[in-house]
Amino acid sequence: MTIHSAAALAHPNIAAIKYWGNRDQLLRLPVNGSISFNLDGLWTRTSVSFQPSLPFDELIINGHEVAGSALERVTLILDLVREMAGIQERAEIVSENNFPSGAGIASSASAFAALALASSNAAGLNLSERELSRLARRGSGSAARSIPNGFVEWQMGTSDEDSFAYSIAPREHWALTDCIAIISASHKKTGSTEGHALAGTSPLQAARVADAPRRIEICRGAILERDFDSFASIVELDSDMMHAVMMTSNPALHYWLPASVAVMQAVREWREAGASACYTVDAGANVHVLCPEKEADELAMRLRKISGVKEVLTAHVGGPARIIEE
Ligand code: PMV
Repeated sequence: MTIHSAAALAHPNIAAIKYWGNRDQLLRLPVNGSISFNLDGLWTRTSVSFQPSLPFDELIINGHEVAGSALERVTLILDLVREMAGIQERAEIVSENNFPSGAGIASSASAFAALALASSNAAGLNLSERELSRLARRGSGSAARSIPNGFVEWQMGTSDEDSFAYSIAPREHWALTDCIAIISASHKKTGSTEGHALAGTSPLQAARVADAPRRIEICRGAILERDFDSFASIVELDSDMMHAVMMTSNPALHYWLPASVAVMQAVREWREAGASACYTVDAGANVHVLCPEKEADELAMRLRKISGVKEVLTAHVGGPARIIEE
């Protein structure tokens, strides 16, 4: 009996221009393009082994067997892989995150990027980066951006075929750090899959989407030219616009807590006083403070002093998803 297996590692990513809303919920085709960078030091490691003796796919995350909707989402990706490879075997999937799963840092991007790479390899497929990004996208939109190296743009595309992410600059291009102020460790009430479905109910979403190509252009230019001031203002505008949509959707989604607002306020004040830093917030209360690497220690220290900040994690710009030894 042959067991075909492979293991892969992928980093989560932080979006500078956010993805919020799908035009095709099943294919996870976004209503706008987005830009992010990978977070080195934080990772998901996943091994996949296809075994003829298994009656079902079996998923183990951080040592615990997982069933229900998480397993269904994983099986959807494995079904796509089985179809491409022409195999029937079920798989055992063992996945591990090195960041606390209850810390409120989304693990779906790194998880589905690692899964796409490990499962396609284990099935004997040798997918291109573009094909891997498209496959990861089917599990979680932002996972498409955790496949390529460093600074990444996900083009919205016109269909499944051309909605994928690619690197716009390698990780060495610009020494930035994400100081993640952990404010709430609890699981978000409304996850992003549900959130994307509500985006269109906000009267502000159409304006946010219409303006997205302009923000993407500015953000891409700022990254390519390493222009922190231009980067900072577009990143904060984009995050605020997404949260304005969230807060005005029906039902409304309010992710910020008082400490999130305190951190954002502090970052604006520090910047006015000459520091290089900007904030961005995903579908949760934690605030990502982006800054040049050389300012990170000082900023992390200041963030730890803000009441309501439980912990600060720091991550530099990370590399692509990759195959690792099992
Ligand atoms: O990939 P998802 O479905 O978890 O969506 C991610 C949504 C945000 O994190 C809020 C924004 C983004 O672009 O990462």
